Amino acid sequence: MSAGEKPKIGVFGAGWVGLVTGACFAELGHEVIVRDVLPERIAALESGRVPLHEPELPELLERNRERLTFTLEVDDAVSAPIMFVCVGTPPTYSGDADLSAVWTVVDQLPELEERAILVMKSTVPVGTGEKVRAALDARGLAHVGYVSNPEFLSEGSAVRDFMHPDRVVVGAFTEADGAAVTALYEPLETTVVQADVASAEMIKLAANAFLMTRISFINEIANVCEATGADVVKVAEGVGLDHRLGPHFLRAGIGWGGSCFPKDGVALKQLASNSGYHFQLLNAVIEVNELQKRRVVGKLAKHLGSLRGKTIALLGLAFKPNTNDMRDAPSLILAPRLLAEGAVVRGWDPVALEEAKQALRGVELSETLLEALTDADGAVIVTEWDELSGLLTSELRDAMRTPLIVDGRNLLDPGEARAAGFVYESIGRAAHDLDVLPETEEPETKLHQ
Ligand SMILES: NC(=O)c1ccc[n+]([C@@H]2O[C@H](COP(=O)([O-])OP(=O)(O)OC[C@H]3O[C@@H](n4cnc5c(N)ncnc54)[C@H](O)[C@@H]3O)[C@@H](O)[C@H]2O)c1
Repeated sequence: MSAGEKPKIGVFGAGWVGLVTGACFAELGHEVIVRDVLPERIAALESGRVPLHEPELPELLERNRERLTFTLEVDDAVSAPIMFVCVGTPPTYSGDADLSAVWTVVDQLPELEERAILVMKSTVPVGTGEKVRAALDARGLAHVGYVSNPEFLSEGSAVRDFMHPDRVVVGAFTEADGAAVTALYEPLETTVVQADVASAEMIKLAANAFLMTRISFINEIANVCEATGADVVKVAEGVGLDHRLGPHFLRAGIGWGGSCFPKDGVALKQLASNSGYHFQLLNAVIEVNELQKRRVVGKLAKHLGSLRGKTIALLGLAFKPNTNDMRDAPSLILAPRLLAEGAVVRGWDPVALEEAKQALRGVELSETLLEALTDADGAVIVTEWDELSGLLTSELRDAMRTPLIVDGRNLLDPGEARAAGFVYESIGRAAHDLDVLPETEEPETKLHQ
């Protein structure tokens, strides 16, 4: 590599993190080789198809086609002096992170003659870097550097998050390796947090755990709001304006799901207990989140009585808007819960129907909102897709057997929903219920007619 030339980059894993990392470094002028083990994924990428739904990613891949190579071969990826590990680290039955894909990458590294750096973007337990370092040394690969560079992107805004990060964390065993990875991010003009490897690993786990804590906290406040007549949306606004607290992740709802929080929360809990520490707060945060989803069933039953034989439409099946990722989506908890109550369950999602077919057994999937809502006894907003902002039409209301909406994401305005003729339940907005609901039992009575 001549002076000024950007180093070639290898990426292991063509999932959300790997593809976004590869595409963004290509956009920054690097030649990038992305390796995956799934032949169909590599074939799709080679033919210009993007195997996952992520805004801006298809355009970015297309624009940088010349600089991107997709391969099934380890040897292609290791031709790069800097190699990012972006493979999955799903949970095991014990709750610990499954690092088998990470170890496969490490174990499959051939005898590299040139100096190279392995950069860990996958989320891994604290101590993984030390173990990989020892394994590399034992294999005579002491000249292969190791850097922890955890990824903080969010699905749905992954490209923007990568290109405009709040910070980049670089944990290295040697200054030179840290500097080489830091240099890759120079064009992004962001703050780089230089750390030791263990601290870099912990920053990622702690950041996720803190975000989860904020969500469970505001959800518990929402539940107390419901019991006491306050409005959690107003409360969150007032709390979030405190500069010591900030407004983010204070939106009450039915709790988190997804490819990261559930597994990373449990992995940190297990990491702590494996080290002899009982992480009480995190245990409570996780439990609050599990219970939060189930409150939806009570809200439906409040209006419908027994759910046996009732048709309930779940609106939004992916774990969040703008992704087709169904990993640990709240819909995966709600659907079986409702089926167990004897309900007929329908599901609608603008992009994740294919994925839902495999993940949601026993659920009738609908292509359109109208199809999902026709003759339904109730609808639950599970994921706040933009499309659902237009739910309050007379056509959809009249199509429902009973026009009941349980808004699990506080997406709609309670006053507007009721003015449009819907019976409306949300999360933690009792103040609105008290303000707007008529004093009689009329809405409930109507429902049972
Ligand atoms: N998805 C997110 O929002 C996000 C955000 C930050 C961090 N992370 C972390 O990044 C890592 C990757 O997450 P993801 O969502 O991209 O996972 P993913 O499941 O979407 O992608 C992982 C990919 O790695 C491939 N793979 C498995 N073994 C391989 C090997 N030996 N060589 C090359 N490829 C291999 C898989 O086939 C898959 O395509 C995880 O540790 C995750 O916790 C994810």
